[in-house]
Formats: sequence, structure tokens, C-alpha cells
Amino acid sequence: MEELAVAFTHIAGTGSAVPQKVLTNDDMAKLVDTSDEWIVSHTGIRQRHVVGPEENAATLGCQAARRALEDAGVAPEELGTVIVTTTTPDYAIYPSVACEIQGMLGAKHAAAFDLSAACPGFVYGLVVARGMMQVDPRPILVVSTEIMSRTINWGDRNTCCLFGDGAGAVVLKNADAPGGLGFHLLGADGTGALAIHREGGVRTEETARNAPGDLKMDGRAVFNFAVRSFCDIIAQTLEHYGWTEKDVAWIVPHQANTRIIDAAVKRIAVPHEKFYVNIDRFANTSSASIPIALDEMKQKGLLKRGDRLVFAAFGAGLVYGGIAVEWTK
Ligand code: UT7
Repeated sequence: MEELAVAFTHIAGTGSAVPQKVLTNDDMAKLVDTSDEWIVSHTGIRQRHVVGPEENAATLGCQAARRALEDAGVAPEELGTVIVTTTTPDYAIYPSVACEIQGMLGAKHAAAFDLSAACPGFVYGLVVARGMMQVDPRPILVVSTEIMSRTINWGDRNTCCLFGDGAGAVVLKNADAPGGLGFHLLGADGTGALAIHREGGVRTEETARNAPGDLKMDGRAVFNFAVRSFCDIIAQTLEHYGWTEKDVAWIVPHQANTRIIDAAVKRIAVPHEKFYVNIDRFANTSSASIPIALDEMKQKGLLKRGDRLVFAAFGAGLVYGGIAVEWTK
């Protein structure tokens, strides 16, 4: 058996895609008993993008993937694996969206699979990809694509105002030079499995054949878990490296609710300005929220070589995931 050499895994390219159609909070107030004032003050959301009839998880994910590949200068044929994270696969449950996208891209030498870790799926995807790349160094494409608008009950004001559709992607490449993906923290509390759930699986004969498949959520329970998760991820990352908040350029949080960030900021020594927030324009796009934010930050010129970032996410499961990244593009 050969000794494995440890390589550094870098984010070589990013891309994102959101549907054209936008629903504002005033549009939501025509559907349910809500208001722009309530939604903004309780969540920070002002609008969300939603797909049209021709779009789905694969088409949106493929757009984001093409942009990430172009940004990285990697051809689809060079990819070793396509990993897709999604809570809204086009088929339940096979074929995977990863296989759909692998076919659309012509990534003919790549393995392909979907990874199920809800909103932290992107972070889980990075960690899994890095592990795989220690054995097979070919580039890996991680795509997070979510069509939340087809899973929510548009008559339930508790959930329908919170989510949006979108996709984000990164291409990972190995290099000898240090940087890229660093310390990670993944975890779960399965005792909270029903705090966010959606029927439609084979749990019972009835759910398999008749369940409506609407997203159901205990918002308060998720909120509390989210605040704890953000604080743990950030505190443990700082402790691992011996950093203070001054050593971190940006926290890129899962975009679920600005009040979750406010609550975390009260408990940890990282100021609000270091959290990148774009939930006002995209709402909660589940696992796509961090790669969409990252791509937007890159396009705005906010990321400098050597910047230290921390991605932090939580979601259904309940699961959480965080990873430190040194920006090397
Ligand atoms: O990616 C992970 C996914 N999930 C999350 O991140 C969710 C985390 N949780 C949250 O973001 C917040 O808990 C929510 C935004 C979901 C709710 O905010 P809250 O401050 O925790 O409100 P609440 O659940 O305590 O509800 C307060 C009231 C309720 O009315 P009553 O029962 O007190 O009369 C709700 O019916 O607010 C009402 N409400 C609304 N009112 C107007 C809930 N949604 C709306 C709405 N418009 N859209």
C-alpha cells in the first residue's frame, strides 16, 4: 500500500444562479395574513426568488455549476466527482440530481451522488469532497441547489414567507500550497429530527402514497439550535487556531434569519459587520445559501487573497456544520 500524501484543498471557482421571478413581501401579503413589517422585523427578508415551470433543481444547479467551472478554468471532463446537496431533489429519490447535472455538463469521467444534510449540506459536501480528494486528487464539483417554493404550503404564513429558490456551486482543486479548506466541525442532534420535516418518504404506507410533502417546522426550536450552533462553530474554530475575531475576515452564515445572527453576536466576541448577510434579497435557500453568498462576495470584490472565512450552518436533522477557509483565489 502506498503512503497517502496530504494535499491542501482549495476553492478554485464559484458560481450561483437564481430564478428571475421575484416575490416581494407585499406579494406574500396577498397570499396569507402577513405584512412587510412583520417579515422584515422577524426575519430580515424583503423578497425571494422562485422558479418558473421550466426550471428545477438540475437546471438551476447546472447554471451555477457551469459558472463555477468557468471561474475555476476546469473542464467538465476533468472532474473526478459531482456532489449535489439538496433538500428538493427532482426525483424522490433516484436518479440523483448529481447524475442529472453530471449528464447535462458532460462530466463523463465523474462519479456522482447526492448528499443529504439539509441546510448545512454545502459544508458537509466540502468536508466529504476534501476527504475523497486525499485519495483521488481530481477536482470535485460541489453544487447546492434548492427549489424550496415547491415544498412549502403557500397558505401557511408560518413557513411560506421564509424560503426562496437558488443554487450555488464551487470547484475544489488540490495544491501543495497551504490554504483553502481548514478546520471543520460537523455534528447532529437527532433527538430534534422532527423540528423540521417533510413527509413523502416510505416511513409508512400512507406517507409513501399520500403525504402532501409540505415542509413543517417548529421555528422556535430551530431558532435556539441555530444560535447554539453558530456560537459553537465560531468559538471552536477560533480556539482551534488560537485566533481572535480580528483574525477572521468574514463569517458566512447560513442565511435563515437575521435575528439568529443578532442573538449569536450577543453571545460571542465577533461583531455583526463580520457576518455577510444577503437574506433580504434571497430569503432562506437552504444548502444553497452559503455558496450563493460566497459567489456574491467574490463578485463584489469583498474577498482578498489570504482572507480567513468561517462558514456556519444548521438545519433539519437537526444538524450543524462549520468550516474555516483561507481564500486563495
Ligand atoms: O434553515 C433552517 C430553517 N428554519 C429556520 O431557520 C427557522 C428558525 N426560526 C425562525 O426563524 C423564527 O422562529 C420564525 C421566523 C420562524 C418565527 O419567528 P418567532 O419570532 O419565533 O415567532 P413565533 O413562532 O414565536 O410566532 C409569533 C407569532 C405567531 O402568532 P401567535 O400564535 O402568537 O398569535 C405566529 O402565528 O407570529 C405569527 N406569525 C406571523 N405573523 C405574520 C408567524 N409567521 C407570520 C407571518 N406574518 N409571516
